[in-house]
Parts: sequence; structure tokens; C-alpha cells
Amino acid sequence: MTDRTADLAAMTTAEKASLTSGADFWTTKAVATADVPSIMLTDGPHGLRKQSGDSDHLGLNDSVPATCFPPAAALASTFDPALAERVGAAIGVEAAIENVGVVLGPGTNLKRSPLCGRNFEYMSEDPILSGAMGAGLVTGIQSQGVGSSLKHFAANNQEDDRMRVSADIDPRPLRELYLRGFERVVKAAQPWTVMCSYNKINGVYASQDHWLLTEVLRDDWGFEGLVVSDWGAVADRVAALTAGLDLEMPAGDGRTDAQIVAAIAEGQLEESVLDTAASRVVDLVRKTQARPAVEGPLDGDAHHALAREAAGRSIVLLKNDGGILPLAPDASVAVVGEFARTPRFQGGGSSHINPTRLDSALDALGAVDGLTVGFAPGFAFDGSDADALRAEAVRLAGAHDVVVVFLGLPDTEESEGFDRTHIDLPTVQLELLDALLEANPNVVVVLSNGAVVALPFADRVPAVVETWLLGQAGGTATVDVLTGAVNPSGRLAETIPHRLEDTPAFGSFPGSFGHVRYGEGMFVGYRWYDQRRMDVTFPFGHGLSYTTFAYGSPTVTVAPSGDLTVTVPVTNTGDRDGREVVQVYVAPLTSAVERAPRELKAFANVEIAAGASQDVTVTVPREDLAYWDIRVDRWVVEGGTYRVDVAASSRDVRGSATVEVSGDEVSMPLTHSSSVGELVAHPVVGPMVLAHLSGMQEMAEGAAEAGLMADDGMMKLMASFPIGRLAGFPGMGVTHEQVDALIEAANAG
Ligand code: BGC
Repeated sequence: MTDRTADLAAMTTAEKASLTSGADFWTTKAVATADVPSIMLTDGPHGLRKQSGDSDHLGLNDSVPATCFPPAAALASTFDPALAERVGAAIGVEAAIENVGVVLGPGTNLKRSPLCGRNFEYMSEDPILSGAMGAGLVTGIQSQGVGSSLKHFAANNQEDDRMRVSADIDPRPLRELYLRGFERVVKAAQPWTVMCSYNKINGVYASQDHWLLTEVLRDDWGFEGLVVSDWGAVADRVAALTAGLDLEMPAGDGRTDAQIVAAIAEGQLEESVLDTAASRVVDLVRKTQARPAVEGPLDGDAHHALAREAAGRSIVLLKNDGGILPLAPDASVAVVGEFARTPRFQGGGSSHINPTRLDSALDALGAVDGLTVGFAPGFAFDGSDADALRAEAVRLAGAHDVVVVFLGLPDTEESEGFDRTHIDLPTVQLELLDALLEANPNVVVVLSNGAVVALPFADRVPAVVETWLLGQAGGTATVDVLTGAVNPSGRLAETIPHRLEDTPAFGSFPGSFGHVRYGEGMFVGYRWYDQRRMDVTFPFGHGLSYTTFAYGSPTVTVAPSGDLTVTVPVTNTGDRDGREVVQVYVAPLTSAVERAPRELKAFANVEIAAGASQDVTVTVPREDLAYWDIRVDRWVVEGGTYRVDVAASSRDVRGSATVEVSGDEVSMPLTHSSSVGELVAHPVVGPMVLAHLSGMQEMAEGAAEAGLMADDGMMKLMASFPIGRLAGFPGMGVTHEQVDALIEAANAG
């Protein structure tokens, strides 16, 4: 951070306090005496929501027109951080034209449950993917001299009771899953601001959590920016300031600024704490001032084209039996479903954007030369006239070669502020689909949903296209994929399970009486399904193309830094150019801690021409192999053999290799509570203890009824016995003096 001593020197305590809370809904306060202007922070995350009239944080009032890019759930399916960076840069340009200092996004919370109402705003069930995509967006936004706000820090994985609930999480899942994505973005892209979440973590409000906002974020990760509260997240302003919360948003009535001044006057708060926060606000203001003014008007066409490209790349082709897609150039197509005409392209709440324009798939299909297109809505969003609309759609389906039916979740089911209670599509739509299949088996299902829905029909339809929510150009982008103008390359950033009951957090979501216990621990998303060997409808990382890719054998080498370099030849074996997402999953063969069978550690998104081959190389940073060791409160890489799976999805491993990894030393002093097993594993005293045990084993084998003792039972039997309690134990032949000597000998080295 720049030295802001001079800026602060000109201010009174009250002025400094005033700087650390908002002036109104979207702006900071100016301090004229120190020449500090006010700046604007505004939503985010997948486009600009700048309100010029009435303000709100729920997306109720209007905002200036802006390009609505694909929300995070879709964009993450591109597995392409470079594309995210381009989208981020475009959002940055729009923010700069509107003179916005900070865009409130991206959101990078992990998808613990498909029910979370804001899953459409979040990236993935995997932290490495979330982190990589989040870093791309932040880098892009900030490349335009506009700040981003990485949110919602942290563990905001549900909307239910979001302003009070305590997410109760053990240290390993907290570090390895829920914080890891944030860590990656902070280290890779240094967002100018981080937004703390509303909820508590293990009983402490994120806004008042010194461990989270200062020890982890700044001391461990090296965050250099400013921490802003989510809108209304501060319960105790002085406690928040002390914890490391620099800016409270939105404006209060001046009461909390006065509390800070009073706390300093009464000696309860060091003025230096306020100085630090105020100087971070000034620093942020100066950074935004450094950006040269950007004149409009916005190049709406160029940004719409980018929104279309990103949307096309986000679409995941889940199934395509018999090559029913792409549509034949002269196909006669029955287009069914209200979503074709009235697209669902974004979610509800503070991210709600007023798009510059809006493409519908129906219009786009109608504009494709050669296609014959008929349309029937099939259902109304409110469920009315179901029988009549269904009958009309069935007639249409019977009269065409192929049926493309647009199904999805209505607007009212997915929003900030509340969670879903099920993952089913509306019954009226499922019944329509059944009726259509009877009339014409050539059905392509196109889905619009911000979070996972169950697909009970997946086995009965030849093709399923998951479009998520695609932003304002989703309609044309969908048609690009349906016709083959774009070869689909999206991959699932989250597993599609068969049933809600199969999902990791089922039964412990959304918690009760102010607490939600993350009982599934380390096993979220594919980690859960893989560990239990559960069948899923479509696995994490899955997605088809109109071409095919063959993988050669992977090779893995260890760089001097310890990073793994994985190389695999990939050939496009079809007759179309296409993109493949090469995924690298890693797991140690044995581990001292609970681990998922495999974890995504790196990926590469490569474009390969029809018939061409390419050596694809990805790097797995050594630090990403680490687990969080609760004994020493730090990351530890276990030494030993690791299996590296090169895969086209989490369940489609195309080749594997093993590699030796040198581990980190963790030396724990032995104590009287150390177990016999731990002593045996000790390099110095282990052999002595083993010798004693084998003496006892021999005695046991000589006895008439050896039983368990007859094999290596002595070791199994004694392994968990604390050494201190062996001393003097009848039949063990071990004295207190011998135990003390052993511990001393072990710890001497
Ligand atoms: C949301 C944030 C948003 C803020 C401002 C809050 O309710 O949680 O994501 O940035 O409002 O609209």
C-alpha cells in the first residue's frame, strides 16, 4: 500500500471515520480538506448494474443499460480463464465509461449444495476451477483501471438466514475447499477490494473476524487492497474495524462513524487502527483516480458479440445420441417451450442487469436460412392453460423432423435472498416432454437454469443441451451451437446428480437455529460422489463436442521447484475443428488424511483443428498438492507416490501416470500421549520399540492360545495405546523411566 500519511495528516479523527463508511447506497464519502473525492462501487458480477434513480441491493429498481454477459455458472463451464479475462475487461470498460470505481464481483463461493439460491452467480463445486476463473475476471476488470470486489468472503454457501447463520466448518474443508478459491484469486490477481460476507463462520461474523480478514487474508495470502462489507453486513462497527473491515457499506446514519470516534476518545480503540482503514480507502480512491477518463458511448455491438461468443462457449452438450445435433441445414424444426421466445438469461437479486438488447432463440432459429421452423409455447410460466398448450405443441412436434424443446426454471425459482427446496423442473414441463416424445422421438432438450436440475428423462431423449443462464446473447449463442456454427466445448463445472437426496449436503442444508454444520467435510461435489462410488446423471467435467478427441499416454516430470509438468498428446479425430478441455486430477496413493479419490489440480483449454494433434502441457503447482495439517496449522505436501489422471471428465480418465513427490517435514515432538504406532514410525526410537514388541510377540506365539497374537497382532493391538499409559501396565515390561528415556531420545534429535 502506498504511504498515505500526508493524506491522513490533513484529516480530523471524525473525517477519517467518515471515510470508512458510505455516503449513500453506492458511493464513499468525500473529504474536501484532504482533496479526497467520492467514488462509486456498484454491482456486478456479470455486467454493470449502475442505478441512477432509486437504489436497492435486491435488483428491484432500474439501472442504466449494460451488457449482460453469461453469469458465473455458465462462464465457468468454459473452463477458460483467458475468456473470463476478456469478459472482465469488457465489464471494466463499461464501468469506466460510467465512471464507476469498483465493480462488485466476481463471486467465487463454492457450490456446496445445488439448492443455494445464488449458485448462478458462483462458479463451481471445485476450488481450483473457481479460483482460476475468478482470477481471470478480476484481471480483466482491473486491466481497465477499475477495481473488482471478490465476494462473498467467505463460506456464503446458502441464502437461507444468510445475514446471521453460522457456517460451522472444520479447518481442512475450510482451508482446502471454501477458502482455496479466494486464496487463488487474491494471490494471482490482487483484487482491489474483497467483500466480506453476511454470515458467521464458526460463530464469528465474517465482518468481525480478525482471523479471516487479517490473519488469513492479509498475513497469509498477502492481500494488499481494501475489505468492504457486504451491504448491511456489519453488526458491530468497532469490532469490525478492529478485525480488518475497512469500509462499511452502504451509508448509515452517521451513528457507527460516531461510535468509532467515541471508542478512540475513550481509549478503547487505537487511532492507528482507524488510520490504517482510512488510508486503505484513500488508496482505493487514488487508484481509481489514476484511470484516465473513458469517453462513451459504449460499443454495444462489440460487447454483444463478446457476450455471444462467451455464451456459445459456455454451453454444455450433455448428450447427443445418433448425432441428432447439429441440426441438418434443411431440417424442419418444431420449436417448443416459452423459453425459446422469452429467454431466461440471468438470475434475480443484486446482479440483475438491464441488458442493452436481448436475443431470443426463436428469432435466431427463424433467421437461419434453410431451416423450416414452427413454434408452440408448450407451457406458460405460471402453469396456466397447460392442457391446451401441450396439445398444440404435440401437434406441432408430429409435423416436423425434429423437436427442440426449451425447458428450464422460471425466474421466480432462482434468486438471491432465498434457496430452492428441490431440484426438479416444473411438472408441467416434464409432462410436456413426455407427450412430445410420444409424438416424435427426435427430441433435443435445451435447458435454461442457473443451478443444477434433475434430469429424469436423460435416458429417454437423444440430446440434452445445458445452457445455464447465458446473458443477453444467449438466444443466438444457443442457435450457434444447435446449428453447428459453434462446436460446443463447455464442460460441467458441477455434477448433475440423479436426486437431491444424493447430494453431499442433503440433510444438513440449510441448518437450523442459526447454525449449518458442513458435516460432509472434505467431500463436496465430485469428491463426494467419487468417494462413495455413486452413479450420477452427468459427472463434473463432462461435455461433448461435434468432433472427438483421442489422448496418447501422459508423461509427468517434477520441476526443480517441485511443480509437476504433465504432457499429453491430444488428437482431434473428427472432421470438425474443436476445443478440448484436458483435465488433470491428482491423488497420492496413500495418505495420512482423508482424501477424495481424485482432485482437479489443473486444466487446459485447447483448440485443435480437425485431424491435427497437439502436445498439451499443464503445470500442477506443488502447493496445490498440499493438505491443511491441523496438527501444525499449515499446508503440508505429503511425500510419496502420486497418481496423475489425465481426463476428459472426472469419470472419463484417458491415461494415468505416477510420480514421486518429495514431502514437507512435519516433526511433532513425542509426548506421553503419543501412541505406540507413532513411536514405531519415529526414525530414532522406532527400531527400539519394534524390538520390544517383537519380543512380546515371540512370547505370545509360544503361549498355548496365541489367538490374535499369532500373527502381527501385537502391533495392531498396541498401535493406538498411548505410550505414557504403558509404563507400569501389567505384562508390558515397560517402566516409567524407560518411557521417559524413549521420549527424551526421540525429541533430542
Ligand atoms: C449482495 C451483494 C451485492 C450488494 C450490493 C448484497 O445484498 O449480497 O452481492 O453486491 O448487495 O447490491
